[in-house]
Amino acid sequence: MIPESFVQELLGRVDIVDVVERYVPLKKAGANYSACCPFHSEKTPSFTVSPSKQFYHCFGCGAHGSAIGFLMQHAGIGFIEAVEDLASSVGLQVPQEERHRAERAKKAPLTELMARAARFYREQLKASPKAIDYFKGRGVSGEIAARFGLGYAPDAWQGLEQAFPDYSDADLVECGLVIVNDQGRRYDRFRDRVMFPILDQRGNVIGFGGRVIGQGEPKYLNSPETPLFEKGRELYGLTQARKAIQEQDMVLVVEGYMDVVGLAQSGVENVVATLGTAATDANVQRLLKLADRVVFCFDRDEAGDRAAWRAMEVSLGHLSDNKVVEILQMSGDQDPDEFVREHGREAFLHQARNATRLSEFLVRELVKRNDTNSAEGRAALVHAAKPLLQKMSAPILRVQVTKEIARRAQVSQAEVEAQCGLKPLARTRYAPPQMKQRPAPSSVERKLLEILLHKPEWAARLPLDLVDAELIESSALAAIADAIEHGEMPSGGFGLMLEFFRGSPQEALISEVLGGMVDEIEPGALEAVFNDAIAHLRQAAISMEIKRLNERARHGLSAGDKQRLAELLALKRSASGSAGGSSM
Ligand code: UTP
Ligand code: MN
Repeated sequence: MIPESFVQELLGRVDIVDVVERYVPLKKAGANYSACCPFHSEKTPSFTVSPSKQFYHCFGCGAHGSAIGFLMQHAGIGFIEAVEDLASSVGLQVPQEERHRAERAKKAPLTELMARAARFYREQLKASPKAIDYFKGRGVSGEIAARFGLGYAPDAWQGLEQAFPDYSDADLVECGLVIVNDQGRRYDRFRDRVMFPILDQRGNVIGFGGRVIGQGEPKYLNSPETPLFEKGRELYGLTQARKAIQEQDMVLVVEGYMDVVGLAQSGVENVVATLGTAATDANVQRLLKLADRVVFCFDRDEAGDRAAWRAMEVSLGHLSDNKVVEILQMSGDQDPDEFVREHGREAFLHQARNATRLSEFLVRELVKRNDTNSAEGRAALVHAAKPLLQKMSAPILRVQVTKEIARRAQVSQAEVEAQCGLKPLARTRYAPPQMKQRPAPSSVERKLLEILLHKPEWAARLPLDLVDAELIESSALAAIADAIEHGEMPSGGFGLMLEFFRGSPQEALISEVLGGMVDEIEPGALEAVFNDAIAHLRQAAISMEIKRLNERARHGLSAGDKQRLAELLALKRSASGSAGGSSM
């Protein structure tokens, strides 16, 4: 856990304008800055950055957040990484728990070793005509080889000794470069192979893939899992592809190292590869953060078909209705690298444009596997669809697919929904179950929350006893009031506010409210609206108490009750007089 106070300090030090400007050229527009949105493609700028609020917001796609959020979204990295990145840009040290510090301290020398090994393999490539010829034979230019840091591991048992005088260093084993056999002998894992360094998000070398030159088994040898390298999380080629992915808002996912390199060689640069494994949840999550359109490309063989199905299954759980996942099954028996070399960039892009939408792929494959000409087959179709429909996270798309399955199975949509135990579309995305259904965004609590996000210091004036305690808005109001009371509320705009709520049950709500505040409340009017809202709450409370007393009056009221009722009625009259027509 990174302490909240550090996040505040950090956001107080960095300027979101500088952070965004590192990636997106900004133009001054009044008090704010604007640009074409980096998160969706557009011709006219609807992305604005507010220095006073330390907040960015796109009126086109709704993306919004703090400097931290921007980095997370833009680089597809996690919260901790974004904080670390920002901290190092302003020379701050992220306070860490002992455990993390130890882990980090352990990783640093390994990262250094891997970088040195990569350098060594690169130099060896320059010195090996055989390896150079191999790459040349596969159409790889010197420029692309340099871009991907390609190398060659020499044909020697202890080749790395040239780069690491202390060959017995245990870290060499730890990071998978050296193997110790049963007799305690040490030798290089990679020998006489062309080398593909695998980079993490920051561009550190964390692993290698090594291919035999020509024929041989295994064709590819990969680094084992090490403290640096977790196969299922990484995407090969991401560092090199990032810019093109952003520009096109589309990412192609292929199966092999050489597919990435070969496509880049042909000018298709928005390409990454999963690492020898089928797509994982971590992969898909990352990919969908990087671009709105993800196209998986698979070879047309049995392994490719299995991988395509798997990618579909995994993707279902991460889709939202504004994202598109597609499956491209290469025609013929060529993989993307072979195809693009023979037919060129345009022909490949044409294929990619005609990839199969995930929903279509799902229905097509299910129908292929279940004979819809028989009642049994149609029943089996619904049965097989069940786990997939249940997994689908994009609500509207799920309805479409459900309808299509129903049509093919010759039953009604309601029957499929009932059979598959599909709940109607969830309406309360952020409200914990014990909370009421999502309140109308016009509730007084919501209005107060909007105002407090501008003026948290007014929380001290909130009559918290009068708000509807069951609304999640109210819990957010209480959290702000509490923080103000204890001097823990950051002042510094929406960005800080959003970070204050990160990880709390109200996070999604706050993000939604901030993102929805498209039309600014005029600063001068804020106070009036705030007072109005509070007056409204008080009136509602008075009316409620009057109603209760009136009900009780049927059984007779005590003298005290009568006096209270008279007071309340007077209060109500004077309040409605002073509220003077301005309404919520
Ligand atoms: P492929 O067998 O499809 O090879 O493996 P490829 O990518 O077309 O390789 P080239 O063109 O013959 O050089 C796809 C991916 O599966 C993993 C590698 O990540 C490879 O890029 N793989 C394959 C292994 O890890 N080990 C192997 O022995 C084979
Ligand atoms: Mn290939």
